[in-house]
This record gives sequence, structure tokens and C-alpha cells, in this order.
Amino acid sequence: MWRGHNGNPMMTPKLQQAKGKEYWDSRFSEPGYAYGEQPNDFLRASCQHMAAGDVLSLCEGEGRNAVYLARLGYRVTAIDFSEVGLTKARTLAAKHDVTITTIIVDLADFDLGIARWDLVVSIFAQPPSAIRQRLYRQLQQALRPHGRLVLESKVDVNATGADRYPGAQILREELAPLTIALAREQERELNEGHYHLGMQRTVQIVAVNS
Ligand SMILES: C[S@@+](CC[C@H](N)C(=O)[O-])C[C@H]1O[C@@H](n2cnc3c(N)ncnc32)[C@H](O)[C@@H]1O
Repeated sequence: MWRGHNGNPMMTPKLQQAKGKEYWDSRFSEPGYAYGEQPNDFLRASCQHMAAGDVLSLCEGEGRNAVYLARLGYRVTAIDFSEVGLTKARTLAAKHDVTITTIIVDLADFDLGIARWDLVVSIFAQPPSAIRQRLYRQLQQALRPHGRLVLESKVDVNATGADRYPGAQILREELAPLTIALAREQERELNEGHYHLGMQRTVQIVAVNS
């Protein structure tokens, strides 16, 4: 069950459509950190033993994942269309005495560049399929050799907004020709701030550029 910070049940993914920048600015204007200050635990487990380098964190929000990676020694660029979220991300970075680069941009317009990143991170980004597929088409040339994508996202293949919540099989196909090192779909308990609490079906992926 997804619950808001006041304990009331939230809209399930089934009822959600893609939210605009104003929605996210409003959420991130609430006190505290919506998804907490700690990194996503799948990201933490996936990045502990990687060599540091250049990281792009997509749809970073309030900075919990970017700041964690900066503290590990990565050079982090965090993108999001929420100015409020990225302002909080910089505040969180300052609190931990690290620096991150933030870019306010719509994912639909972002150019990932060529051989630019050692790691691309996508944690609960959930873009609509057209934006997601455009992004994935850029990934192979944007990642350096042996660079990787680490992704976790919600899954709800029966949802009316299904194109934002695909399972492992669809993501595998869309991420070709990257090598899929891990693709795992599961029910798991989330404990991330006020908004990611309780059991949720997610897909976790690590994909590597050869
Ligand atoms: C569920 S939050 C996840 C935030 C962060 N990745 C985390 O796990 O803490 C989704 C994020 O995606 C961002 N977002 C949604 N659509 C976007 C778009 N089209 N372009 C850029 N950012 C977007 C929102 O502003 C928000 O920060």
C-alpha cells in the first residue's frame, strides 16, 4: 500500500498519469525529503564496488542518490525538471560537503552526449514510453566502454498508465544492445521517506555497454 506522509492511502500507480513539473515542484516544496535523504538500497548495493567516474542521475529529485554517489567519489550530474527538487539536492550536497552538478531540464529534451558517462542512474524515473525509448536509444553511445545503467522502477503492467510501468521483459528489449547483467522483477518492501512506503512491485536492472 502506498501512503502519503499523513497516513492516507495515495493514488496507486494504476490511477496515475505522467505528472508535470508543477506537480513535482509542489511535492518537493513540502517539508522534509519526500523519498528520504538515504539512497535507494538497490543503487547502494549496485554501486559499492564500481570504479568511480562520471555519473548521470536521471530524474534525480531532491538529491538522495546523487549525494550518495558524490560521497563515494563519483563526479555527479543530476538532471530533473523540478527546480525545487534540484535546489534541495544542492542543499543536501552542501550538508555532506560534496559537490554535484545540477541541470534543470525536461528528460524529453536532454541529450546524453557521446562516450560521456561511466554510470547512468534511473531510480523511479518512470517517464512515458516515448521519452523512455528516446532515452534508451541514446544510451549505448552515451555510455563509455563498460559503462552501465542502474535502474529501479515501479511495475504495473495492468495499469491504465501502463506505458510508464513496464516489466523486465519490455525493458530488456528496449535496452538492447546493452548487455543485461541483471533484470529482476519482484514484490519488495520500500522504506524511502514519506512517499515510498510498503510493498511494491519493482524491476531492477543493471545493463552494461560492451
Ligand atoms: C518518483 S520521483 C523520483 C525522484 C528520485 N529519482 C528518487 O528516487 O528520489 C520522479 C522524479 O522524476 C522527475 N521527472 C518526472 N518527469 C520528468 C521529466 N519529463 N523530465 C525531468 N524530470 C522528470 C520529477 O521531477 C521527480 O523528481
